[in-house]
Amino acid sequence: MTGFSVDWLNLREAADQQARNGELLRVAATFAASGGDAKAVVVDLGAGTGSTYRTFGQHDFSAEFTSTWRLVDNDRKLLGEAARRADQNRRIETYELDLNHVAQLPLTAVRLITASALFDLVSAPFIDRLIAEVDEASAGRPVGIYAALNYDGSTYWDPVHPLDQQVLEAFNEDQTTDKGFGPALGPDACAYVKQALEQAGFGVQLATSPWQLEGKESQLVTELIQGIGRAVQSRPQITREDITDWLAFRLAHVTTGSCRVGHTDLLAVRE
Ligand SMILES: C[S@@+](CC[C@H](N)C(=O)[O-])C[C@H]1O[C@@H](n2cnc3c(N)ncnc32)[C@H](O)[C@@H]1O
Repeated sequence: MTGFSVDWLNLREAADQQARNGELLRVAATFAASGGDAKAVVVDLGAGTGSTYRTFGQHDFSAEFTSTWRLVDNDRKLLGEAARRADQNRRIETYELDLNHVAQLPLTAVRLITASALFDLVSAPFIDRLIAEVDEASAGRPVGIYAALNYDGSTYWDPVHPLDQQVLEAFNEDQTTDKGFGPALGPDACAYVKQALEQAGFGVQLATSPWQLEGKESQLVTELIQGIGRAVQSRPQITREDITDWLAFRLAHVTTGSCRVGHTDLLAVRE
């Protein structure tokens, strides 16, 4: 399972839903619904199979409120899966687009922009261009940005292994390599996005949203460990033998151990 396959996104969706900060989600949904018109436009960037769309749908924030969700991704297969799983009451429009082309984003009349597990993949210049585009599109109207599940650079394992810290440092270095947007913000994503949005006049709130994974999530933990192994294998500070030892130990403990992967959720609103 590599990249952003339907299988990988399905596997992480339950852990993501559990991890998302409930209070920030509630405030984001309330903001989306409080625009005065009965229909709000929400634009989900890097939507994948629609995890964020479904998460908002699971919370009955307002019976009167209907929304149009514009799901943007460059992967047609993922968007097709999102459309297939859409519910009747919340309209979905899909946009197959490279997010780098910010001027093409369907931001007309947008009330809330959402993203999950995305902003740690993008670069600082991308964030700057996105904020400038949101500025232009919102033209003085209230607008919000909800960006959930940004990896914060921390991972704690139980039981511990002597190489955990070294592997984490190598992994975090890999997280800052180019993921298609220029050098990725990786663990610095929330700090950068927060200050950039504050400079643009948004009020920004952050909240933690860690994955707390145990034996019952052993399939997800196995994929996580293997993904870390792939990411660190090209890093110079860790040897192939050390990676092999660490992987063997970690995989031997997927059903009996636990881990905590740090994430941060961000909500920015400009009234
Ligand atoms: C980690 S996944 C998150 C998907 C979804 N938001 C979720 O939480 O399940 C990142 C998503 O960003 C999309 N993506 C990555 N680079 C992109 C780009 N340059 N343009 C559009 N979408 C992109 C991927 O296809 C993938 O669906």
